[in-house]
Amino acid sequence: MNSADLISMEKLCYSIGGRKILEDFDFCLERGVNRTILGVSGAGKTTILKLLLGLLQPDSGRVCIGETCITGVPESRFMELRKRIAIVFQGGALFDSMTVGENVGYRLFEEGRLSHAEIERIIREKLSFVGVEAALDLYPAELSGGMKKRVAIARALASNPDYIFFDEPTTGLDPIGVYNICNLILRLQSAGTTTLMVTHDLATAFSTSQRFTFLHQARMVFEGTEVQMKASDIPEVREFLQPTDQSLFV
Ligand SMILES: Nc1ncnc2c1ncn2[C@@H]1O[C@H](COP(=O)(O)OP(=O)(O)OP(=O)(O)O)[C@@H](O)[C@H]1O
Ligand SMILES: [Mg+2]
Repeated sequence: MNSADLISMEKLCYSIGGRKILEDFDFCLERGVNRTILGVSGAGKTTILKLLLGLLQPDSGRVCIGETCITGVPESRFMELRKRIAIVFQGGALFDSMTVGENVGYRLFEEGRLSHAEIERIIREKLSFVGVEAALDLYPAELSGGMKKRVAIARALASNPDYIFFDEPTTGLDPIGVYNICNLILRLQSAGTTTLMVTHDLATAFSTSQRFTFLHQARMVFEGTEVQMKASDIPEVREFLQPTDQSLFV
């Protein structure tokens, strides 16, 4: 099996209903370099994550996990590599009819490779890591927004992925909730997980990532560090970092 030390997009084009969402988009996520994709609402950030996972197929260009090109290939052919990547969706996407524990163990139960006792152990370990072990038997409807996000992270962790993609992990949380989630992401990174985040929350982005990609009108207009981004003279980047009265009418 190929290693997956690089996840990349090459000259990727993707449109919906004739509207270009991505055009000639090149992107690279290296193992060990935590990255955030920034851009205004509707820019195409969530779409990029779905394309990287092979959940959407591009119009042209290709996505590679390691040396394996996954574009136009049946999912069964890249399933093993795909398991090294987990995603925490924008809304958490927990199954309402399952308990927290069942949600976290869902994929492991489906795979049927591990014993019930071993899956139970993993569920408790992951819930403990995110600090919500006490919620094991509760249903998603009984949880706060912050707890739901933690459970969604525990579910992503269940298969010990090398990469975790986070879609707006702190949106809608109070400052303490934001702090806790950022802290959790930093702990994951220390434990060797590479993170790719999409967000428009700058504080979350800067506290958890080393490199930044800025998406504007279907293209990557900036790639670099926080310092480089803050010193950038690209008008769209400056406007995003420091909106003005004019920005209201953009
Ligand atoms: N299934 C769909 N049908 C039609 N348009 C869609 C669909 N999915 C996404 N879009 C459009 O594609 C564009 C990119 O959507 P995407 O969800 O990737 O944006 P985003 O940058 O993640 O936005 P946000 O920050 O609000 O989450 C948006 O303009 C959206 O309206
Ligand atoms: Mg989105």
